[in-house]
Amino acid sequence: MNSSITDFDPKAFRRALGNFATGVTVITATAPDTSRAGVTANSFNSVSLDPPLILWSITKNSGSYPVFEKASHFAVNILAADQIDISNHFARPSEDKFNGINFSLGLGDAAILPDTSACFQCERHQILDGGDHWILVGKVVSFDDTGRAPLVYHGGAYSALIPHAGSKPKNTAASDAAQSKNDQRLADSLYYQMLQAVKRYQADYQPLQLATGLRTIEARMLLTLNDFGSISADELEDRIAMPDNDLNAAAETLCRKGWLVREGNDLSITTTGVKQAEILWQIANDRQNEVFGQFSEEEIETFRKVLSAV
Ligand SMILES: Cc1cc2nc3c(=O)[nH]c(=O)nc-3n(C[C@H](O)[C@H](O)[C@H](O)COP(=O)(O)O)c2cc1C
Repeated sequence: MNSSITDFDPKAFRRALGNFATGVTVITATAPDTSRAGVTANSFNSVSLDPPLILWSITKNSGSYPVFEKASHFAVNILAADQIDISNHFARPSEDKFNGINFSLGLGDAAILPDTSACFQCERHQILDGGDHWILVGKVVSFDDTGRAPLVYHGGAYSALIPHAGSKPKNTAASDAAQSKNDQRLADSLYYQMLQAVKRYQADYQPLQLATGLRTIEARMLLTLNDFGSISADELEDRIAMPDNDLNAAAETLCRKGWLVREGNDLSITTTGVKQAEILWQIANDRQNEVFGQFSEEEIETFRKVLSAV
């Protein structure tokens, strides 16, 4: 879809921006009056190495902004892949977001969360006007780096990383012996083979699914509702790992198409939604048959056994 005018639909704009995969952070601060704030944010980015500067942006109507405005420091907690609950928790406005949360105190008493991938403790350097957001620039004064696998956010849903395989350079100076040693090691590594197989499978499957006009996450919503019939938005959020804002936006799209109906917090699939879900299952089954049709029942059974044991 090509949108070149400037008065474009904000929802479509937000959706298009969601193609840019980011990490997920919880940014925390404590004001001089000891009021504490923590906000889930994916707008974090690096700015400068010397001096060491980073930035993020916060919506101007955030209830947490007054704390960041007054605080001398803030801490950027980069969430790890198993911290979806923390991300969802700090994305919801609440009187006391820190109730029941484990944390220690960093510079300026900003909350440091345990078990993250990394944490940057910053002095507040600058606050810039950025349309409907404030852009906060921080000067990093201290950081921790555990290197835990990060939580990823893409297309309005949480994801996890699969490392890219790389490719063989065309003009390689490597000797044949080194090349075949490397090829053999990769061929022997079952972990590497599994990752490559998933990526190849996905690369051919995704365009088929997109051709139905649905994003992966919308398709997953529909397929889940097809099995449960009716489910609360909160339960669906947990089942398909989506923040509630994005889930509500996707539910709205599916309701507009007439595939879901929403009553309060409950989502139910419609008869036309069931038909669409069947089309999605058909696409998934066709792809599976195309890839696995070449194997015997016994081979598939062994494959299932190995997969579930792994
Ligand atoms: C993955 C994700 C990323 C988010 N990124 C931002 C962001 O960069 N800036 C922002 O202002 N809000 C962002 N939000 C929404 C805020 O977390 C949410 O509006 C806020 O925590 C609400 O509480 P508050 O009133 O204390 O601000 C994000 C939410 C999620 C789930």
